[in-house]
Amino acid sequence: MEEHKKRIFSGVQPSGTITLGNYLGAIRNWVSLQDKYDCAFAMMDMHTITVRQTPAELRKRTQELLALYIACGIDPGKSILFIQSHNSAHAELAWVLGCYTYMGELQRMTQFKDKSAHHEDNINAGLFTYPVLMAADILLYNADYVPVGKDQMQHIEICRDIAQRFNALYGDVFTVPEGLLASSGAKIMSLQDPTKKMSKSDTNPKGYISMMDDFNVIAQKVKSAVTDSEGVIEYRPDDTAKAGINNLLSIMAVMTATTPEAVAVQFAGQGYGAFKSAVAEAIVEGIRPIREEYDRIIQDKSYLSDVYTRGAETACRIARRTLNKVYKKVGFIVK
Ligand code: TYM
Repeated sequence: MEEHKKRIFSGVQPSGTITLGNYLGAIRNWVSLQDKYDCAFAMMDMHTITVRQTPAELRKRTQELLALYIACGIDPGKSILFIQSHNSAHAELAWVLGCYTYMGELQRMTQFKDKSAHHEDNINAGLFTYPVLMAADILLYNADYVPVGKDQMQHIEICRDIAQRFNALYGDVFTVPEGLLASSGAKIMSLQDPTKKMSKSDTNPKGYISMMDDFNVIAQKVKSAVTDSEGVIEYRPDDTAKAGINNLLSIMAVMTATTPEAVAVQFAGQGYGAFKSAVAEAIVEGIRPIREEYDRIIQDKSYLSDVYTRGAETACRIARRTLNKVYKKVGFIVK
């Protein structure tokens, strides 16, 4: 019997500029998974409208995100690439799963607490039920693994709880997925406040590196990264006083395929200035080939639309099968 490859699902919201955190914590790790697994990666546009978006910009950023996925090495010949809103099964399954999710569970989500604190004037129901839509994204494809950064692990946990609850009632309908964290880079911190994660919604652009930043802007941002006054390059992951240096060591480690400890040894005794220059250079050299590819791909709009159209066809086919199964289980008449 032919053994089925395990399945992978993941995605990024096209809600702002894509950061080095998104790249190192997620997209970069997807590339190497493509040969071993059946992968689907989506542009999660439906999630973005939990916060107000400018429609024309959202459309543009969704296309740019696709070009960036491909430029980073996601191969449309190997992986399914699609736009979430092109597959209505996501919204349909989210409705069903919402009836199997408790208010108390959703109230505990840190992303909900954070986002409602930042958008006090718009604490909408979508922001609250966001993890249910995310569970639908994953469960529709019976994903075994979901490669994400650390900040999304709580959402994977609730997805597992929902899947297990549903399976307990109706039999083995869903594969219960596991989160897959990068061995390093799973949590890249803000350059301005290294106790917070690097985020595209940071109001201070100096806190994050955008994959689209000018190379000299990247260098400036790294040089003005907050560190400490101790002046010693050491990796002390549990010492918050070292959060800035720990973060730069982690970034350098991923960019140069080594460990933060090894980078610390390499730069021991050197000043922060020299170290920051080396980190900036490693980031720029890592991003340069991606940007060259991106600049080429983004010009070719018909290629991009071809990729997402084909991707949606396959995604819809797979998802509909799962949705029909769910509909039958809960007692709907499947046409
Ligand atoms: P989003 O768009 O905020 O982030 C996309 C991916 O980037 C990771 N990430 C980071 N990793 C390391 N360091 C950081 N500073 C950092 N910031 C972001 C995130 O963990 C994520 O993997 N809810 C998701 C999108 C989503 C999704 C899904 C993901 C919707 N449905 C289904 C997986 C499966 C989100 O907001 O990611």
